[in-house]
Amino acid sequence: MRRPMVAGNWKMHGTRASVAELSLNLKNLVLPSGIEVAVFPPALFIGQVIDELSETEIIVGAQNSAVQPEQGALTGEVAPSQLAEVGCKLVLIGHSERRQIIGETNEVLIHKFAAAQAGGLKPVLCVGETLAEREAGKTLEVVGRQLGSIIDALGVAVFANAVIAYEPVWAIGTGLTASPQQAQDVHAAIRAQLASLDAEVAANMQLLYGGSVKAANAAELFGMPDIDGGLIGGASLNADEFGAICRAAGN
Ligand code: PGA
Repeated sequence: MRRPMVAGNWKMHGTRASVAELSLNLKNLVLPSGIEVAVFPPALFIGQVIDELSETEIIVGAQNSAVQPEQGALTGEVAPSQLAEVGCKLVLIGHSERRQIIGETNEVLIHKFAAAQAGGLKPVLCVGETLAEREAGKTLEVVGRQLGSIIDALGVAVFANAVIAYEPVWAIGTGLTASPQQAQDVHAAIRAQLASLDAEVAANMQLLYGGSVKAANAAELFGMPDIDGGLIGGASLNADEFGAICRAAGN
């Protein structure tokens, strides 16, 4: 059966000193058993965090990786195999900040997803609608297309080695959270889309919710049948708050 996962996306935050302090505070947390806990530091600090968390069970991931699996002539990018070699296990693919600000398209994300797996990383595919898309009643269509583009190109079987995070764009960093029922409805649709092609992949898929999750609303969200944990931005920069969210997933 699938295990809950709580993942902290640190985004473009931190200095060497603040990262060391956060790692130390994470190391001192008593985390519930039976859940997976991951953090995604800025690329610059991945090696540092892997060293600092080496005595813990916390998994370290990257926020982005290159469109090709192996090292090569690609200025400014980091190859999945390079990340895997230093001990990185996961990579975020298609976070809405990268789709919207950097301009990553579903087409580019197909290559990033495939390269991540070929280079030894497990992709965490992020999907989600904007406020305008939700208000136009297009949420399930948009999310279905984001997921469907990967399935059409690579096949549903690749999702046996992936995680999916549903993150409504309007809820990210805004303090607005999808209600547990709003989130559950989308999660159920994502699982149904997978199930229509492969029941086992669907049943085992860890489906995370992201968007202004904090200790105060985590338990209610994680209590929904198709929500298997969270992808946490702002609240993951505070170890006590992050620890409380992890405990909510452990209950
Ligand atoms: P937030 O970010 O928790 O700060 O809303 C979530 C995310 O972008 O992954």
